[in-house]
Amino acid sequence: MAVQTVGVVGAGLMGSGIVEQAAKSGFQVVMREVNDQALAAGHKRIASSMGRAMERGKMTEQDRDIVLSRITGTTDLDDLRDCDLVIEAIIENLDLKKELFGSLDRITRPEVILASNTSSVSITALGAATSRPDKVAGAHFFNPVPVMKLVELVRALETSDETMDTLRQFGESMGKKVVTAQDTPGFIVNYLLVPYLLDAVRAVENGIATVEDIDTAMTLGTGVPMGPLTLLDFVGIDTTLYIAEVMYDEFKDPKYAAPPLLRKMVNAGYYGRKNGRGFREHSASK
Ligand code: 3HC
Repeated sequence: MAVQTVGVVGAGLMGSGIVEQAAKSGFQVVMREVNDQALAAGHKRIASSMGRAMERGKMTEQDRDIVLSRITGTTDLDDLRDCDLVIEAIIENLDLKKELFGSLDRITRPEVILASNTSSVSITALGAATSRPDKVAGAHFFNPVPVMKLVELVRALETSDETMDTLRQFGESMGKKVVTAQDTPGFIVNYLLVPYLLDAVRAVENGIATVEDIDTAMTLGTGVPMGPLTLLDFVGIDTTLYIAEVMYDEFKDPKYAAPPLLRKMVNAGYYGRKNGRGFREHSASK
C-alpha cells in the first residue's frame, strides 16, 4: 500500500521532528497532541527548526510554506482515521502506549501499519495491544530528526516482512538510512550508546576529569560532534535515566545500572537542555 498520509501522535521533540521531516519528504501529515497548548508548542518547534534550515540556506520561504501546508494539527485522535501509516511518539510509558495502540487499532483501517518511535518500550507488547501485531513495528528516529540520517526499524515477534518492507521504503523516502534490529531493549544505537553515556557520568563521579575536559577529550579524540555529557544534556538526563533503567531491568547487567549522580540530578530537576539545567547547561561549573 502506498503511504500518502502519515499520522504522528505526540508533537514533542521527536514527534515534531518526524512531522517536519515527513512533510518535507512530500507526505501529508496529521499531527495529534493531547491539548491545544501542546499542539501549539509542536507547531512552534517545527517553525523554528525550519527557520534554522532557512538561515543555513537549506530551505526557501516558498518551500517552507509548502511544507507547512502539508501539516494538519489536531487534538482529536479520530482525525487519524484516514492515515495510511501512524507513528507514535508520546512519552515513554508502556501503559499509555498500549492504550493508544488499542485506540489506533480501532480507529484506523485494518491494513494500516502502526509504528512506535520508542527507544525503550517493547514493540511486541505494543503489537499485543492490537488485533494486528503483524502490522506493528518500531521506527526509531534520532534527535534532531531533520538532521540525523538514521532510522532504526524494529521487528517485533509477530511483525510481518511486508510491514518491514513498507517501513523501509517509507524511511528511505524520508531521506534516512535504514537499519533493522530485533525487539530487545536499546535496539542497536542505545544498546551501545547508553553504557558509554553512563560511563561518562561515572568518570565525573570518580573525579577522572572535569565535565568540560571529558567532553573536549571525546570530541577531539574520537571525532564525535558532541562530548558525552553535552550529548546527555541534549538527549535529556531524565530520558537517559529512564532508558538505562529499562535496559538494566531486562539485562541485569551492571553496565546499564544508573550511576548515583545521574539519579541525583534527575531528582533535583536537572533534565538537560529541555529545562536549561544539566551537565553543561548552567550547572557546568558544578
Ligand atoms: N533542518 C535542516 N538542517 C539543519 C537544521 C534543521 N533544523 N539544523 C541544522 N541543520 C544542518 C546544518 O545545515 C548542517 O548541515 P551541513 O553540515 O550540510 O552544513 C548540519 O545540520 C549541522 O548543523 P550545524 O553545523 O549548524 O549544527 P551543529 O554543528 O551545532 O550540529 C547537531 C548540531 C547536528 C545536533 C550535532 O551537534 C550532532 O550531530 N550532535 C549529535 C546528536 C546525536 O547524537 N543525536 C542522537 C542522540 S540519541 C537519540 O536521539 C536516540 C534516543 O533514543 C536517545
